[in-house]
Formats: sequence, structure tokens, C-alpha cells
Amino acid sequence: MRLGVNIDHIATVREARKTYEPDPVKGALIAQDAGADQITFHLREDRRHIQDEDVFRLRCTIKRIPLNMEMAPTEEMKKIAVDLKPERVTLVPEKREEITTEGGLDVVSMEEYLKDYIKELKENGIAVAVFIDPEKNQIDASVEVGADAVELHTGEYANSTSESKKEKELIRLKEAAKYAKETGLDVFAGHGLTYTNVQPVASIPEIEELNIGHSIIANSIFWGLEEAVRKMKRLISDVRKGL
Ligand code: PXP
Repeated sequence: MRLGVNIDHIATVREARKTYEPDPVKGALIAQDAGADQITFHLREDRRHIQDEDVFRLRCTIKRIPLNMEMAPTEEMKKIAVDLKPERVTLVPEKREEITTEGGLDVVSMEEYLKDYIKELKENGIAVAVFIDPEKNQIDASVEVGADAVELHTGEYANSTSESKKEKELIRLKEAAKYAKETGLDVFAGHGLTYTNVQPVASIPEIEELNIGHSIIANSIFWGLEEAVRKMKRLISDVRKGL
């Protein structure tokens, strides 16, 4: 299983002072050396954390592992992605007032628009994933629009406060992962995963990649980024060994 390290919140700290440190590109290099399999970042329309300059510096600096650019499916972002050429784009919904991405992309209601949008990205050599809620109709629509992969939104699972709700959400993720894999899509997952809740998700065999940001960056304040990435990798690989 691959670990994509999302570096957005290194930039959140920098932007709190509108200064030059900490540098998310330096963070990406440390994560790469610590065993991250991918660098993930979200260039938001309001540029609240990652800036345009960061993404182009990432492209020049990170050579050994792929870049995964999360972005809203807008014309502005498509132009940037085509220029930047990340190995993958993950299409996410975006609302200005939200604290973080709430819910998955509604691929069903955007089917016609996304077909052309995804086609153009793929013609430029960029693989495309869509970030969706773990629902059958969203998976079917993801196949229809030509996505290469789905990233299943684990937020409902991660934010559940009762054990029974958590168990229910985990079952929903398992069923969605199995169904998506059967349709031929690659299956990833992410959002809200932490050192304490990651292992049940990592044990779903169809899921081949997790993208994790906040918890790794938050704990890097205490442990250092290298150790924070290593610890997360270890938790994931311990579970996969047992499969
Ligand atoms: N995957 C996607 C598609 C996301 O939008 C995010 C948040 O930017 C993440 C994963 C990482 O979520 P978290 O920061 O909660 O680990």
C-alpha cells in the first residue's frame, strides 16, 4: 500500500504569517526521504495554503516519487495542471467557506461536464482520480466519466464518535472498495485518517493508496516530519503484512 503525504498544512503555518517558512517543498523532500510514496497537495481557489509558486517548485524538486494534485474541476485549475503535469490529478469539490473538503465530488450530477474535462487531462498524460463518497452510483458515474481511479472519502468513518457508526462506515468503505475494484478502477482512500484510526482502513485489500495530511503534519510538530512519516508507514505496512 502506498502512502501519499499531503503537505498543505506546512503551507498553512507559513501563510499564518505570510512569510517564507516553513517551506512545503522542503517538507516534501523530507517526506520523500522518509519513505512517502507520493506527494499530495491541494491548490485551492482561494490559495489559503499552497501557492502557485509552490507547485512549480515541487515539480522541479521532487523527482523520485509522483505528484498528486488535488483540485476543483474548474477551467483555471485545468490550465495549471496541464502546465504543471503532475502524475495525477484528484478532482475534489470545493466551497470557499469550508474548513476542509466536505463530502465527495458529486460525479453523478456533473457527468457530462466531467467527461470532457477528464478527457483533456488524460490527453495531456495526467492520470485522473475522483474523490467520492463510498456510494455505488458515484462509482458507476466515475467509470462513465473515464476516471482511472476513485479516492474514497473516509471522513464519515474518521469523524464517527460512536463505535457502531464507525463499524457501519467501515463496512460501507469495504463494500465500495470491492465494487470499485470490480469495475476496473484503481481504489484509493483518504481524509481524516490518523495514527489511531488508519489501520482498519489500511486493512481493506482493494485499497492500494492512502492520502494523509493533517495528522502527519500535526504530529510532526512533536516528532519531526521524518519520524511522523515513518510511523504512519509502519502502521500501514504492519497491517498489510497480515493480509
Ligand atoms: N484526500 C483528499 C482528496 C483531500 O481533499 C484531503 C484533504 O486535503 C486528504 C486526502 C487529506 O486529508 P487529511 O488532511 O484529513 O489527512
